[in-house]
Amino acid sequence: MNILGIETSCDETAIAVVRDGRHILSNVIASQIEIHARYGGVVPEVASRQHIEALVPVFQEALAGAGCDLGGIDAIAATTGPGLAGALLAGANFAKALAYGRALPLVAVNHLEAHVYAGWLDAVEEPVFPALALIISGGHSDVVLMTEHGAYRRLGQTVDDAAGEAFDKVARLLGLGFPGGPAVEKLAAQATRSSLRLPRARLDRPYDFSFSGLKTKVLRLVRGEEGDEPSREELAAAFQEAVVDSLVTKAVRAAKDHRVRSIVLSGGVAANSILRQTLRERSPVPVIVPPPRLCTDNGAMVAACAWWRLQAGDVASLDVDVAPGLRIG
Ligand code: KG4
Ligand code: ZN
Repeated sequence: MNILGIETSCDETAIAVVRDGRHILSNVIASQIEIHARYGGVVPEVASRQHIEALVPVFQEALAGAGCDLGGIDAIAATTGPGLAGALLAGANFAKALAYGRALPLVAVNHLEAHVYAGWLDAVEEPVFPALALIISGGHSDVVLMTEHGAYRRLGQTVDDAAGEAFDKVARLLGLGFPGGPAVEKLAAQATRSSLRLPRARLDRPYDFSFSGLKTKVLRLVRGEEGDEPSREELAAAFQEAVVDSLVTKAVRAAKDHRVRSIVLSGGVAANSILRQTLRERSPVPVIVPPPRLCTDNGAMVAACAWWRLQAGDVASLDVDVAPGLRIG
């Protein structure tokens, strides 16, 4: 079964064709990053308009890449939340038109769940249940217990900034471009000294995160308010180390406490090589991490998730609404 997956929740117009929830036939991503970089972050209205312009050419390229036309597609899937309302509407309405025009089943996909399903795409080793899903993106830092397909319980989350958001804000403080994650990672790799240690937040709930104190600490250091002024490279490295350490420490604790058999790392921040490496080193169970291009937003993860939703008979009606704040757990 070939599913066309459409992702427009934020600033990527992405469409893919995936066979049987696992095999990527095409995966086209049109990024708006350069347009939003001018403003230092994603401008929702601009994002919606860009999606409307990009959807048709991205769709045509995705079909061409898969070597088929709409006759070769068995279902249409689109992200319906969480995300920017106008951006979600662009993709969801495009999906509805295709589904209606070709009388194909429509699947409404949760963006966070889709990130997790990147773990099944072209995977050498598939996640085994119970699994711990770490969804670490620009909008979320969620620790989720997944007992089977479609069954989730959130164990922890951020109490303030998401990890990706913290990377983006610290990048701005260090005078780096948007998006901040890759820029901070690159700068951190150039650090020569690593004696600087930034504080980790202490929280009552065992699997929650907090990154805003860390960001404030970086701000004070950048302004020279703490005496000794570290280099930008050193700051980037110490910040990255603190975020990675928090994420991995809580994830490993949750994995042990809940006796999971695998961990799936997903979301844009999962593209970070230090996070990938550290989690692999410290995890008591196998860690499934999709390649970086499948960690950031893409249509293949939407199509993969939709295949499993369809196995459970989860077909959406054509009047399904977008739900910008929809959450897992
Ligand atoms: O999942 P995603 O593409 O979009 C959301 O659903 O939010 O995640 C985007 C986030 C951004 O905050 C970006 O800075 C971060 O992922 N990111 C990274 C890296 N690549 C992307 N953070 C750290 N290191 C990276 N290499
Ligand atoms: Zn995302």
